[in-house]
Amino acid sequence: MATIAVEHLTKRYPTGTVALDDVNLEIADGEFVVVVGPSGCGKSTLLRIMAGLDASTEGRIVVDGAASGKHALPSATVFQEQSLFPWMRVGENVAFAFDSLDVPRDDVRRRVHDVLGLVGLSDYERAWPHELSGGMKQRAAVARAFVTDPPVLYMDEPFGALDEQTRVGLANELMRLWERSPKTIVFVTHGIEEAVTLADRVIVLSARPGTVKEIVPIEFPRPRDAVTLRGDPAFGAHVVHLWELLR
Ligand SMILES: Nc1ncnc2c1ncn2[C@@H]1O[C@H](COP(=O)(O)OP(=O)(O)OP(=O)(O)O)[C@@H](O)[C@H]1O
Ligand SMILES: [Mg+2]
Repeated sequence: MATIAVEHLTKRYPTGTVALDDVNLEIADGEFVVVVGPSGCGKSTLLRIMAGLDASTEGRIVVDGAASGKHALPSATVFQEQSLFPWMRVGENVAFAFDSLDVPRDDVRRRVHDVLGLVGLSDYERAWPHELSGGMKQRAAVARAFVTDPPVLYMDEPFGALDEQTRVGLANELMRLWERSPKTIVFVTHGIEEAVTLADRVIVLSARPGTVKEIVPIEFPRPRDAVTLRGDPAFGAHVVHLWELLR
C-alpha cells in the first residue's frame, strides 16, 4: 500500500487546453478513492499523471513521501479501452504483468492460476481474448492488475462499457479482491452509484479546468455488498448529493 499526495497539480496541453488547475489531494495508505466529474474535466489526465504515464505542467505527485518521476511508481492500471493482447491466451495476458519483474516461472504460473480463479475465469486460462465476453475481458484485465499485488492501482472507467448488472457484479468482485490484497486504489467513473458503492471517499472535480470541488466521505462499513447497499437510505442521499454537485 502507499500514501499519495497530489500537490498543486496543473496540466496544460501543448494545444493550450488547461485540463487541471492546482489539484491538491491526500490519499491514505490502502484507501479506495473514487474520482467523479463532468466529461472533459481532466479525470483521465489526472490518473495518467498519477500513474507516471504523462507529465504535469506544474506540481507533483508524492508517493510515500518521495516525489515520483515518470514511470517511478510500482503501480498497475486498468483502463476502459485497455484490451488484452489478442495474440496471447488469457493466462499469458495475465502473466505478462510479470514481464519486467524477476519472478520464478512456477510462481508466475501459480499466481496467474490463483487470480484467474478469484475472478471466475479458471476455465479460460487457455482461451483467446476474442472468445471472452466484454465483462470477462475486464475481469481478465483486473486479474492482470492484481496478479503482481502492486501497492497502488489506477482504474479509469474500467467497467464503463459494461451493462449495469455486470458492473454491479464486478464492483463486488473488485471489493473482495481489494480486501484480500489491500492496496491504494484510485478509480475514475461516471457511475454515481458505482462511486458510492466502492469509495471510502468520492473526489468531485469541477468542470474544466478540473479542480477539487468537494470531497465526500462514504462511511458504510465493509465488507459491502453492491446490491444490499442500494436499499440503505444513506445510499440514496449520497447519490442525490453527488448529482447536485455535478449539475
Ligand atoms: N493528449 C491531449 N492533448 C491535448 N488535449 C488533451 C489531451 N488529452 C486530453 N486533452 C484535453 O484535456 C481535457 C481533459 O481531458 P480528459 O481526458 O482528462 O477528461 P476526462 O475527465 O477524463 O473526460 P471523460 O469523462 O470524457 O473521460 C479535455 O478538454 C481534452 O480535450
Ligand atoms: Mg476520461
